Amino acid sequence: MSFCPFTSRRGFLTAAGALAGALGTGCMARAETRADQPASGAPALDAVEPFWGVHQAGILTPQQAHCYFAAFDLVTEKVGEVESLLRTWTNAAAQLASGNPVVDLGRNPYSATPAVDSGEAQGLGAARLTLTFGFGPGLFVKDGKDRYGLAAQRPAALVDLPRFNGDQLVPEHTGGDLCIQACADDPQVAFHALRQLARQADGLAQMRWLQTGFSSSGAMGETPRNLLGFKDGTQNPVAPAPNGRKGPSRPGLSPDEVIWVGAEGPDWMRGGSYLVARRIRISLEHWDRSDVDFQEQIIGRRKASGAPLGAEGEFDPPDFDMADKDGNPVIPDTAHLRLGAAANNGGAQILRRSYSYNDGLTFIAERWPPWRQGMLYDAGLFFMAYQRDPRTGFIKIFDKMSKLDALNQFTTHIGGGIFACPGGAVEGGFIGQGLFRRA
Ligand code: HEM
Repeated sequence: MSFCPFTSRRGFLTAAGALAGALGTGCMARAETRADQPASGAPALDAVEPFWGVHQAGILTPQQAHCYFAAFDLVTEKVGEVESLLRTWTNAAAQLASGNPVVDLGRNPYSATPAVDSGEAQGLGAARLTLTFGFGPGLFVKDGKDRYGLAAQRPAALVDLPRFNGDQLVPEHTGGDLCIQACADDPQVAFHALRQLARQADGLAQMRWLQTGFSSSGAMGETPRNLLGFKDGTQNPVAPAPNGRKGPSRPGLSPDEVIWVGAEGPDWMRGGSYLVARRIRISLEHWDRSDVDFQEQIIGRRKASGAPLGAEGEFDPPDFDMADKDGNPVIPDTAHLRLGAAANNGGAQILRRSYSYNDGLTFIAERWPPWRQGMLYDAGLFFMAYQRDPRTGFIKIFDKMSKLDALNQFTTHIGGGIFACPGGAVEGGFIGQGLFRRA
């Protein structure tokens, strides 16, 4: 690893005059070039989220505005190479999260010089970048093969997701042996980070699918709205609130109960969490032609305020027993809110950390309405949910939701995956280290 004078502010000041020469060494300034405070109201793009710690960042971290999510297929046959990839990724992620370029990208296969950081994030700041790593079922068993001698270490909670009612998952958006969730308040910072990590995986893992997402919460740090136009993220067991906004936590619930894996282990998952990701296309053409009253019946909340039907404020508790003058439930039996609520799922809870996506237009043979065929928005929600155990979290909630939710007439699950995201790493260690210690 070469010394980089730009990886500290002092280094930057003393070496600023030599910038042109330094660029030739592959070392580029990033966070340190932003000495000025942002204008009032603008996001603090030099803000840093800590990388090292008991838990991985990017789960309980207040949600950033942009996300790049990549799933990888491992192509190496050697467990030692998987281990060294995770060590390399961990070290690079720590550099990137602190707003620095990656100074050691390894060998450049096309020339004798070392590979260099691609440089498009210089001057942009850390932008609260978080990099969160996960292991898919394929790390443990792939096509019936135990490629790395890790099969016995597969956590019971890392199940293969069942096929849900209405699933139309396509291979090019589904699965993966490893995943990286890169989130930041600047899209270029997030993509840059992912790109450096992908390059470090050359010959060991190749990207299988990539999903971008955005989440706009407005200047006042309100709950962001998804592409339905409804506030999304109001009711989370622990609020990873945008811009530091604190939503309500249910009394008596802590992240340890809902999100973090505890003594049930395995040890290397302690302090970690399971991620279920779903690429859910929303039929915006259909949605945009429906009345707001109808939309509110589907969600079970008011569109403008986010209040549950029958209540006043966004954070008022929903009353599922309330009936109208004809005796019908005010929050319909098929409302998304009713079907998702912990009270109606034996207490099941997940931490939703989703992003909207817009990938342009695509030809889609629609599930509904059946006569609609042709070019449509390829847009929707990249749903991400973290939980202590998917069997008692996502699977429990979505099994019923996939059959009964009125929202299903507008949505199609196209892809996604399930990943075990280990606990965080201490400096000098790497993400998932405990898994390999026991292999
Ligand atoms: C395109 C797909 C989806 C959209 C647009 C969507 C939208 C929403 C909205 C607007 C809310 C109400 C506001 C809030 O509390 O955050 C909500 C709540 C919720 N959603 Fe979804 N959602 C989608 C998919 C899913 C899926 C696949 C699940 C799977 C489990 C899910 C689980 C939940 C849960 C648990 C709640 C909170 C219910 C409560 O406790 O009040 N959603 N969603």
